[in-house]
Amino acid sequence: MPKSAPAKKSAAKAKTEVTAAKTKSSSKAKAGSVRAKPKIPAKTVAKPMKRKAAPVQPKRTRSPQPTAAPNHDQLWTTVDRYLVDMLVPQDAALTASLDDSDQAGLPAISVAPNQGKFLHLLAKISGARRILEIGTLGGYSAIWLARALPPGGKLVTLEIDPRHADVATKNLARAGLADLATVILGRAVESLADLVEAGAEPFDFVFIDADKASIPEYFALTLKLIRAGGVIVVDNVVRRGLVADAASTDANVLGVRRLNEIIAAEPRVTATSVQTVGSKGHDGFTLILVNA
Ligand code: SAH
Ligand code: DHB
Ligand code: MG
Repeated sequence: MPKSAPAKKSAAKAKTEVTAAKTKSSSKAKAGSVRAKPKIPAKTVAKPMKRKAAPVQPKRTRSPQPTAAPNHDQLWTTVDRYLVDMLVPQDAALTASLDDSDQAGLPAISVAPNQGKFLHLLAKISGARRILEIGTLGGYSAIWLARALPPGGKLVTLEIDPRHADVATKNLARAGLADLATVILGRAVESLADLVEAGAEPFDFVFIDADKASIPEYFALTLKLIRAGGVIVVDNVVRRGLVADAASTDANVLGVRRLNEIIAAEPRVTATSVQTVGSKGHDGFTLILVNA
């Protein structure tokens, strides 16, 4: 393990580690504010006893406003911190992969730690020996996925941006996954078509997480590359609720909405979609089983 690189990161930023260290105190502090909400209805209940509490009314109007998105984001992030602190210990290779991604200027759009572990568990549960990822970024989700593989397994991950691919390749190597993981540079649609053409051995598990406008194409090509009984997970399928806007002209939203139409009419798959909230805001995963 290159000592200089992680040392530099933890000195320069130590962001993730500090976050982990701080989590206890900050989650305690914020746990207080989490509790503050349940207290509001309690006061309301107590109110009938004090009739002259008329001036308190504004509080009443404030509490039933569940549309205050910033507060929700804070709460979700606080809860995510607690959950990650409890259940998702992250080792140096994972935290360093995010630090290096930051330092290289990559966008902070990796899956959250608890989501990464969720993907890891899904891949394990499905018994995946060959995993395909579409959209590598700095390799954070790739590390989680590759760690679900048995010895001799394979992760292939597709990335269009050479800077991202370079950071990811180094991050995977530092995690000791160089032999298990291969980053393929290029437009994912082309890389997928190449894999089809090359007669690639079928994949057991596919994580679709690149540009959202192309999701329908990624799904179509994935069906050619995955085995019967295989599992597909699609990220970012809710986008703060925008997916439910039938009038949307956003290319990302249209990509997800088209996928849903395709899935709904596709007898070869069984699928569901769940919303998620957390440090990444309000979003969702679609889980698709390719019927055996
Ligand atoms: N799976 C990563 C996050 C991926 S972000 C993680 O959770 O850690 C989306 C990535 O898809 C970005 O790195 C972006 O460069 C890449 N991407 C966007 N369009 C692409 C395309 N047409 N082909 C391949 N990769 C693409
Ligand atoms: C974006 C992409 C992602 O894969 C993600 O998880 C969050 C955001 C984006 O392109 O904005
Ligand atoms: Mg994503």
